[in-house]
Amino acid sequence: MEHNLSGAARPIQRLRKMNTAAEGCTMRDAFGREINYMRLSVTDRCNLRCRYCMPIEGVPPTSHTDILRYEELLRVAQAAVSLGIDRFKVTGGEPLVRRGIVDFIRSLKALPGIKQVTLTTNGLLLPPLLDGLLDAGLDAVNISLDTRDNAQYQAITRSSHTADEVLHAVRLCAGRLPTKVNAVLLSETAAQLVPLARLAEELPVDVRFIERMPLGVTDIAAEPVHREVIGRLRAVWPDLAPVHERRGNGPARYFASSGLRGCIGLIEAVSHAFCASCNRVRLTSTGLLKPCLCYEQGTDLKPLLRGGADDAALRDAIEQAVRGKPAAHCFAERQAVTERKNMNQIGG
Ligand code: GTP
Ligand code: 5AD
Ligand code: SF4
Repeated sequence: MEHNLSGAARPIQRLRKMNTAAEGCTMRDAFGREINYMRLSVTDRCNLRCRYCMPIEGVPPTSHTDILRYEELLRVAQAAVSLGIDRFKVTGGEPLVRRGIVDFIRSLKALPGIKQVTLTTNGLLLPPLLDGLLDAGLDAVNISLDTRDNAQYQAITRSSHTADEVLHAVRLCAGRLPTKVNAVLLSETAAQLVPLARLAEELPVDVRFIERMPLGVTDIAAEPVHREVIGRLRAVWPDLAPVHERRGNGPARYFASSGLRGCIGLIEAVSHAFCASCNRVRLTSTGLLKPCLCYEQGTDLKPLLRGGADDAALRDAIEQAVRGKPAAHCFAERQAVTERKNMNQIGG
């Protein structure tokens, strides 16, 4: 399979298409995809050490001076909004370990033109911050939980925290803001499919099963067979059927059942090519703007932010990254994956 790594090699129509002032700007990449979503990793640090995310020896912490300051992140966000990116996902590492995160989310949400700010977290630090986050205007939260079994949770996350702590956070969020549970599919958690899906029966939350991507640490067996996931869940909820409404901005496909309050989602990050409708770019905590998860390529915004570049130069750099967005990931061919960073450095 041929990978087109550089959108720049393709004929580029108009990258930035101005609509009416009321509609704002629409940014399209070289393949015509509308790019309206940015993932902002605010830290590479985490209070867990998930086995599919971080190496056993841990990772050397990035120095604070290398991490973008909140003002710098806000400047990038402002430039992005002026280009048509109006949805932001705050990620990590674990975003809630960074001091001042609630105020950052408040400032981000307050930027003119921003439609949505959502958060992906492991949930452990969420309970005491929830009221503040709601007050700050957070629009939705995704909470990672790969198993409801406490011992298994400790083994996967290499920590003394428990699945019960995460479940507590999920229960607090459910009904107060749109809440999704993210479960990466692993061979060892195959028996957790129905227990995890039952969360969507007990609570108004979506439960999403994610194919583990071969990035960074991969010393844990993945469970890639998504078609079987729905088949197995249909043994319990026979009327589980695809829904076509939009639930969030991500690549998940959703299924609903009359027996479930929330939906079941599948994120076929490896096997199913949702790249044709990809809407996103991602900023690492050190300021690299990555057009695709799979490749190391990116545009380093830090020298611009710290070198006195004006807003026009920042916008040009964002457009340059979008122009270089490849047609698709290459997770199916391991040797073509050029990204060497671990997930905690990218933000998922
Ligand atoms: P929402 O549905 O809007 O909440 O967004 P989301 O599903 O993109 O967010 P989340 O942070 O919960 O990510 C869920 C999973 O999808 C994680 O495993 C991400 O790594 C994965 N993911 C997000 N974006 C992409 C993408 O562009 N490509 C691939 N392959 N995986 C992605
Ligand atoms: N493959 C798929 N999902 C991953 N996540 C972390 N590492 C991987 C991986 N290798 C998930 C986390 C979290 C989200 C940000 O990404 O579990 O839910
Ligand atoms: Fe932390 Fe998320 Fe990585 Fe787990 S997957 S170690 S919670 S950043």
